[in-house]
Amino acid sequence: MEFNKVLEERRSLRAYEAGRSVSRETVEEILRAASMAPSWKNSQTARSYVVMSQPLAKQVRETCLPEFNRKNSQNAPVLIVTAFVKGRSGFDNLGNAVNELGDEWGAYDLGLHNENLVLKARELGLDTLIMGIRDGEKLRELLHIPEDQQIAAVIALGYGAAEPQMPKRKELSETTVFF
Ligand SMILES: Cc1cc2nc3c(=O)[nH]c(=O)nc-3n(C[C@H](O)[C@H](O)[C@H](O)COP(=O)(O)O)c2cc1C
Repeated sequence: MEFNKVLEERRSLRAYEAGRSVSRETVEEILRAASMAPSWKNSQTARSYVVMSQPLAKQVRETCLPEFNRKNSQNAPVLIVTAFVKGRSGFDNLGNAVNELGDEWGAYDLGLHNENLVLKARELGLDTLIMGIRDGEKLRELLHIPEDQQIAAVIALGYGAAEPQMPKRKELSETTVFF
């Protein structure tokens, strides 16, 4: 698919086709594309916890997501919990933050990784929803995510059952300064 079309067609999907699964090979293809993203000194601190077991996905929804995200991700066959290893991206070899952003660079890298993820999914005809509103500690407990990792979003992945319009974007003049 042409790159611009992928950019334009990717939407946050809040309705998924029931009973339509996604193969592990497809998820792996998407995650390999995600891993091609740039990262601080190629530190590659992004981590993915892929929930494909439906009973576990149900448990994640019921215990770790608020009601509206439970509904938004209902029927999505895959939930990818994303995290990054703390204290590496944005840090020197002695473990000192290189500048004022500290671990925010880890979040920056994870965002780049996850943008590749959602775009690759769209290219393959799949849809996604990034959910930042979730209970991180319950996710940690349920999926045994180590304490040295910062948990970020839960990404729902599946075949969309709606065609939402692109929410309005700001004009460049509102967001950009040229010198
Ligand atoms: C970091 C992040 C967190 C988000 N969290 C949620 C969420 O918890 N629930 C939800 O329905 N949408 C969530 N979204 C989706 C945004 O609302 C959506 O990207 C935005 O409205 C633009 O729509 P679009 O993705 O279709 O272009 C999140 C998006 C990002 C990037």
